[in-house]
Amino acid sequence: MRRLARIAAALALPLLPAAGGAWAAEPDSVARGAYVFQAAGCLGCHTDEKAGGLPLAGGRALKTPFGTFFTPNITPDPDNGIGRWSDADFVRAFREGKRPDGAALFPAFPYASYTRMTDRDLLDLKAYLFAQPAAPVANKPHDLTPPFSWRFLVPAWQWMYLTPGPMPDDPAKPAAWNRGRYLVDAQGHCGECHTPRSLLGGLDGDRYLGGNPDGPDGDKVPNITAHPKGDGGWSDGDLALLLETGLTPEGDVVGGAMGEVVRNTTSKLTAEDRAAIVAYLKTVPPLE
Ligand code: HEC
Ligand code: HEC
Repeated sequence: MRRLARIAAALALPLLPAAGGAWAAEPDSVARGAYVFQAAGCLGCHTDEKAGGLPLAGGRALKTPFGTFFTPNITPDPDNGIGRWSDADFVRAFREGKRPDGAALFPAFPYASYTRMTDRDLLDLKAYLFAQPAAPVANKPHDLTPPFSWRFLVPAWQWMYLTPGPMPDDPAKPAAWNRGRYLVDAQGHCGECHTPRSLLGGLDGDRYLGGNPDGPDGDKVPNITAHPKGDGGWSDGDLALLLETGLTPEGDVVGGAMGEVVRNTTSKLTAEDRAAIVAYLKTVPPLE
């Protein structure tokens, strides 16, 4: 036994600096990951703010037409969170919607959008999460209505609605437009609320960003395409101001789900990134 342990130690030791080195080679990973974390809006869903829950320890209730999801703990706690996940496990959860044990993740975790993120962004995000305090908070089971509670049916959903893999830039378009599209479609997952869903909960690509009568908490989510009755009638400055402060041109403040998006996400972006989102939204095909 002792000899085995020595051999294992001899084999493992030289590996350690190499494994650590993968991140050490990118000293700005945690800082970059912090920005990705904000742009992708992870905090709100994974924190039970109402009950004073610890950041990222999960437990927030998400009411949907399929039942109530309780978000899991995504702190680096090894027993309750994702502390034992490898880089590959993490990337696979976002790309393919799979847990390390191969079970499918419910698409209430918006990986159908996040799948478009680059490997670099995903690994930076992991570096940031693993630099946060671990919270020893156990996960709560979801409260879903059958058959929507049946995890084994989720692969069928994925087969219909998930196109795994990062989204390539469109070389014919300016860099700001590509950046804006990436922020809207991959990180900001704006369509998860602003695009209506089919009966089975897939996004209706024909109504991309065209507004959703049945958004989170049953709220109506407005049309943000370039239609004059959507946000097409707004100036670039109006849109950028809304993303920064939540103020609409009529002097209202957006509330509910969008208030949270502004607070946790779009207000935290650089002015350049907000301008990129506006540049992209202005080109989204207008829908009534
Ligand atoms: C709209 C709410 C929402 C947002 C935004 C969201 N998640 Fe989640 N996430 C969920 C739900 C719900 C689950 C549980 C899915 C399941 O049980 O299959 C989940 C599952 C996960 C898991 C799998 C954990 C496990 O133990 O199986 C990870 C990792 C994760 N999310 C990380 C993140 C990160 C990082 C972000 C930001 C990039 C993020 N999530 C954004 C709702 C969300
Ligand atoms: C969690 C759901 C959710 C997400 C994600 C979301 N939104 Fe919203 N959004 C809403 C809701 C709900 C409203 C309506 C708020 C109100 O009227 O108080 C709204 C309103 C808006 C408005 C104002 C439109 C109008 O006509 O009043 C804009 C612009 C907007 N969102 C852009 C975005 C962008 C860009 C993103 C991605 C970065 C995004 N939203 C992500 C739910 C969401």
